Amino acid sequence: MDLNDLNAGGLVLLGCGKMGSALLEGWLKNGVAPASVYVLDPMPSDWLKSTGVKINQGMPEAPAMALLAVKPQMMGEALPALQALGGGGTVFVSVAAGTSLATIEGALGAGTPVVRAMPNTPAAVGRGITALIGNAHVPADALELARVLMGAVGQTVMLEDEAQMDAVTAVSGSGPAYVFHLIETLAAAGEAQGLSADLALQLARATVAGAGALAEGSDEAPGQLRVNVTSPNGTTAAALAVLMDDDSGFPALLSRAVQAAADRSRELGQ
Ligand SMILES: NC(=O)c1ccc[n+]([C@@H]2O[C@H](COP(=O)([O-])OP(=O)(O)OC[C@H]3O[C@@H](n4cnc5c(N)ncnc54)[C@H](OP(=O)(O)O)[C@@H]3O)[C@@H](O)[C@H]2O)c1
Repeated sequence: MDLNDLNAGGLVLLGCGKMGSALLEGWLKNGVAPASVYVLDPMPSDWLKSTGVKINQGMPEAPAMALLAVKPQMMGEALPALQALGGGGTVFVSVAAGTSLATIEGALGAGTPVVRAMPNTPAAVGRGITALIGNAHVPADALELARVLMGAVGQTVMLEDEAQMDAVTAVSGSGPAYVFHLIETLAAAGEAQGLSADLALQLARATVAGAGALAEGSDEAPGQLRVNVTSPNGTTAAALAVLMDDDSGFPALLSRAVQAAADRSRELGQ
């Protein structure tokens, strides 16, 4: 099954901001015909207008899928526009953080097939990772099509239980911001050691990007890659003694940060 399967029935996109645009760009690159896409957005961007998709006009009778990419707090206001498609053959895919399958099914009508997806911002450069889970009304082939849809902007993983979504949000959903902060603080630490701001930032950014690429492409576990570059009593070992400290190092700090994000995700989902 591939994105071409969407061309016949049509694909609806509700909300074309940052995430909606990244997805649409991926779909169009991967074989979805612009004429098959129906976008609803109150302020279409110039880029959106240049794509040739249908904007704020008509609706196919039975689109194969409708992707919901408005902010969670706008969902209540935006969903009624698609209510006529609920409870039928159209599968809804929502990327709204913290909005449960039950909430979306409730808004569209009992029996509506809904898939919840959590992408992350590297989707903007085709390097995202999205976790997906469907409700009981989503047929297996539709779940696979939802996976292909999100696969246009990066990797995909399937969850077994919606409760995992809070931990996923805390690791990969919010994770890019942790890494951006790592770059900022590594650069600031370099400045404190006498480097210019520009040079420190260039070194920090390239180091995080390069190490990330190495970790992703390597057969070795990240822990082994770390060991490989740590000579006994050397410079890296001196830094790792600080970073791996049981009380004040990364393990305790990241554990607390991820816990805080997961707790907040559970709270927002109430
Ligand atoms: N960005 C991410 O990395 C990321 C990651 C995971 C999940 N998500 C989820 O993705 C969703 C979208 O996030 P985003 O960052 O893309 O936000 P965004 O850039 O603000 O995009 C939302 C878009 O929806 C439009 N919109 C507002 N009300 C609407 C309505 N009634 N009907 C149709 N469109 C409407 C907005 O238009 P106006 O700007 O004119 O209001 C805007 O273009 C959120 O639910 C978020 O939780 C995002």
